[in-house]
Amino acid sequence: MKPSHPLRFRAALCVVAVCAYLASRPAVSAPAAKPLSSFDPQAKALVAQMTLDEKIGQMTQPDQEFIKDPSDIEHYFLGSILSGGSSDPKEGNSLEAWTNLYDRLQRHTSLTRLKIPILYGIDAVHGHNNILGAVIFPHNIGLGCTRNPALVEKVERVTAEEVRATGIQWAFAPCVTVPQDIRWGRTYEGFSEDPQIVRQLAGPAVRGLQGSDLANPLSVLACAKHFVGDGGTAFGSARGGRGLDQGDTRVDEATLRRVHLQGYISAIEAGVGSIMPSYSSWNGVKVSGNQRLLTGILKQELGFQGFLISDYNALDQVDRDFKKAIGISINAGMDMAMVPSKYKEYIADLKQLVAEGVVPMARIDDAVTRILRVKFAMGLMDKNRSPLADRGLARTFGSPEHRAVARQAVRESLVLLKNRNHVLPMAKTAARIHVAGKNADDIGNQCGGWTIDWQGKSGTVTPGGTTVLAAIRKAVSGKTAVTFSKDGTGAAGATVGVVVIGELPYAEMNGDRADLHLAPEDVAAVANMKSAGIPVVVILFSGRPMILDAVLDQADAFVAAWLPGTEGQGIADVLFGDYKPTGKLSFAWPRSMAQVARHPGDPGYDPLFALGYGLSY
Ligand code: GLC
Repeated sequence: MKPSHPLRFRAALCVVAVCAYLASRPAVSAPAAKPLSSFDPQAKALVAQMTLDEKIGQMTQPDQEFIKDPSDIEHYFLGSILSGGSSDPKEGNSLEAWTNLYDRLQRHTSLTRLKIPILYGIDAVHGHNNILGAVIFPHNIGLGCTRNPALVEKVERVTAEEVRATGIQWAFAPCVTVPQDIRWGRTYEGFSEDPQIVRQLAGPAVRGLQGSDLANPLSVLACAKHFVGDGGTAFGSARGGRGLDQGDTRVDEATLRRVHLQGYISAIEAGVGSIMPSYSSWNGVKVSGNQRLLTGILKQELGFQGFLISDYNALDQVDRDFKKAIGISINAGMDMAMVPSKYKEYIADLKQLVAEGVVPMARIDDAVTRILRVKFAMGLMDKNRSPLADRGLARTFGSPEHRAVARQAVRESLVLLKNRNHVLPMAKTAARIHVAGKNADDIGNQCGGWTIDWQGKSGTVTPGGTTVLAAIRKAVSGKTAVTFSKDGTGAAGATVGVVVIGELPYAEMNGDRADLHLAPEDVAAVANMKSAGIPVVVILFSGRPMILDAVLDQADAFVAAWLPGTEGQGIADVLFGDYKPTGKLSFAWPRSMAQVARHPGDPGYDPLFALGYGLSY
């Protein structure tokens, strides 16, 4: 018989519970920043003084690796520079090398008439991931499973501070794609297949990066990407019928808005200062040349006041004729062109297009005003502020405090899919824990793509991280033996086995897959461990759900860990029960390849684990 509590006692319990919940959630984020258009008086006054060459220079973004002579910066009045995925300083990837590169290039702008500082852009998509020793956070697919906007904001706040430690002030993040087919290689860059989860997290991510004031020296300019429908392309619509990345999204406008526009709505509400149009097409027309989308919907209907930056050489895909492509894209509403190597050609062509009347001066002035609005809002134009790096920020770069935020993000991103006979949580006093799998002791595989290199790679790619094996060793008592074999042999006699399997690093089109079954090596490692007759915990590092038919039955417990980044101790926290799993799937988990790309309402929709699924202890 359940003890009956007097009503007032139950009411008191509810109050306590609500207070506990509210206390667990950090204060609501700061109010939105000043609208960018409030900087128009200064921006327009400056545009009025500028020559056409100076204006076009602001609309040009080369990649530093292709700038053979840095005096091009003052010669072409360049307004921005990027480092693409593997475009690193010649001196290597240390914090100092990156900071010296940034300062060296930024100093050139003081040699120009107007001294407009460059905006330096980089893909800080899960921490300042190009720099050795940076804290690497879970990729967005894991953050989506936290369903925690306040945590996502905090993750991006730390990322912004580590980006600023190199002087760099612009992150090409957050990716607010809504992947609809997990065969796409960029699935893990999305928070979720559910547009409402993306909408819930996009705004906080922007606020984390930009802070409540873009002029804060710890804020960086965010860049919501890739507008619009990048995650909705049809399988086989890209690159000769083999892939999805940069393909064609074939949906009606209502679907495009319902599914793919949601992240931009909350990003714009949060004051995002830049947006990156997609390589992909919408019903056969390249988005980066589509005036209705870039100007009609984004700038006019949604009131986006920042500027549009094209994707890497995306203009090349708008038309086979580069000069024609420039005219189409700039007239469609593109404001700055990411022209990594062809920046001199771009400048000459755009100048000619203006002279020929193909691109009106009003369009040039609008683009430059938008770019300068952002630079004024960031305090870049403040003559009392140096645009060079604040080298004092090195003291918190990769710090224990920053790693603690990443560890919490790891804890909350894990999704417990199975836990037969309560194998988890494991005891820290177990006699012996046998660890196996190709991903158990590999920071590179743990971080995935966009880590130090564009594609990422296996091995100890960056210092300061903790692998699962190291984390388990750190967590257990002195009397517990922790043994390891990559292939799962030698487990006999252990109390419990942990096998860490999954994908190897990849990025973008290199991750497009027609088949998502596990590698034979992974299946063998689980089988070997199971043949020892002990309970088996399987942990999957992957950029998306995978087909589990070969291992799920053998696993007594199964944890989807996505691409957790450097802080593997967060995984041990869940394995040993120091943190009870709270993660919920942000993508439905298909039973088979036949089910991939099906969504609620589709015939035959029958996922192995539904969107939102997740167990706890
Ligand atoms: C890449 C990606 C984009 C990235 C840009 C700069 O191709 O599509 O997400 O921001 O180029 O590296």
